[in-house]
Amino acid sequence: MFHNIKLKDGKAAYIQIYKYIKEIIENGMLPQGSKLPSTREMSSMINVSRNTIMKVYELLEDNGLVYTEKGKGTFVCKININVNSDWNIEWLDNINNYAKTAEELDIMKHEQLYKKGMISFKSIAPDESLFDVEELKRAFLNRITLEGEKILNYGYAKGYKYLIEFLMNYMKEKGVNTKGKSILITNGFTEGFDILLSSLTSKEDKILCENPTHNTAIKLMKLHRLDIVGIRINEDGIDLEDLKEKLKSNQVKLAYIIPSYHNPTGMVMSFQKREQLYNTLKKYKVPIIEDGFNEELQHLGAHMAPIAAISGEENSVVYIGSLSKILFPGMRIGWIFGDEKLIDTLESVKRSRNIHTSFLDQAILYEYMKSGSFEKYVKKVRNIYREKYELAKRLCEEYIPHKYILGDGGLYLFIKLMNINSRELLNRCVKRGVIFTPGDIFYTDGGGDDSLRLGFSRLTLEDIEKGIKIIGEEASLDNKVQSTQKR
Ligand SMILES: Cc1ncc(COP(=O)(O)O)c(C=O)c1O
Repeated sequence: MFHNIKLKDGKAAYIQIYKYIKEIIENGMLPQGSKLPSTREMSSMINVSRNTIMKVYELLEDNGLVYTEKGKGTFVCKININVNSDWNIEWLDNINNYAKTAEELDIMKHEQLYKKGMISFKSIAPDESLFDVEELKRAFLNRITLEGEKILNYGYAKGYKYLIEFLMNYMKEKGVNTKGKSILITNGFTEGFDILLSSLTSKEDKILCENPTHNTAIKLMKLHRLDIVGIRINEDGIDLEDLKEKLKSNQVKLAYIIPSYHNPTGMVMSFQKREQLYNTLKKYKVPIIEDGFNEELQHLGAHMAPIAAISGEENSVVYIGSLSKILFPGMRIGWIFGDEKLIDTLESVKRSRNIHTSFLDQAILYEYMKSGSFEKYVKKVRNIYREKYELAKRLCEEYIPHKYILGDGGLYLFIKLMNINSRELLNRCVKRGVIFTPGDIFYTDGGGDDSLRLGFSRLTLEDIEKGIKIIGEEASLDNKVQSTQKR
């Protein structure tokens, strides 16, 4: 920065240099304790005599801007830095509608927060204490030894070739026909869904989804300004009659469906229903975005083929895969599986957004998956989650006054309460150190105020029991008050 000093004729050089250095110190560009170049270095940098620089340093020292330590050099003193505060933009007035909506819909900011020591049924993330960190370390060392610096450079938007091949095979094992299909690696389901909505929809298009559905999906559909058409879910799952009605009366662009361990209800759609759903949407020529997250968790019953398998060689199902609820959600790896030509376009969209998903992470995940560690891990965690699920379900049935309780396994249960407002219940439970997710955030039409989701994946069996009993006590209190009022 000292090379930039431009000396003008007519003014003493030492004054000009002094003023320049004073200004950069006062503006904070030379922080406290930084060492100035020696007088010899500075004189050759600026092309003036060493005596001139010695005079400058003396003047700086006299004015309390620098100090000299014998044999060590000249250093900047602690001073009050000039703060430039004439022009401050009111950024919040400059925020566009997209950002405003994202802020409004950000449940992390607006919902009750977990505080240390609480029993939290909010999270549906996997229990990180079950992660196989040693195996992952091995996978990392193996891959980096094999690939070296290559996986640290830029990669390809489509994804890490070996991971794509692995996932193609993985889809085949799920019974999916891969002819004419391809894969794009994304930053989890969330980016995959956003890329698909950005590429396939325009403002005010109608999109079908289950009601209730995944809150992040609602947020994205709203951010894309889509017209959401919710299909009722009842105790038997998605209501196909309601679907037919809505298809008759709406020109629908796309359908978004979560057939396995649906969030928030935890229901697994039967094979027969998957077929009926597929055929109904086919009749109305509505393509499906299938959210395949959580399939791996099938702790009850046998493997259930995804809707993408039912579609065979047809190309109307776009499947988004994610292991986030089972394994390393922090790696943010998901994939879109679908028609080759569509994936080719989505690849360009992905590249224009963030070039690609981390190659290092993809390579490690690939190594971990192919080593067989994933299968071992899934077997282990299924048993642990099953135990938590069975306990939670039994306790909810016993203690919480409900109309019905949904959840076929997975990591959470959905409870339709017996005429109880779940937000009022939540406020009372929070006072007793228990927190859960009120069901209304999953509804597309403002409904669900008598429902809640209980995530139990990260809780111990003891806390599950303690927490559910507290919710039950508070809910029963509510119920008693209501029945006395009725009398
Ligand atoms: C329905 C649904 N799909 C997908 C995901 C996973 O999203 P991501 O892969 O972006 O973590 C979740 C996570 O909660 C979910 O509830």
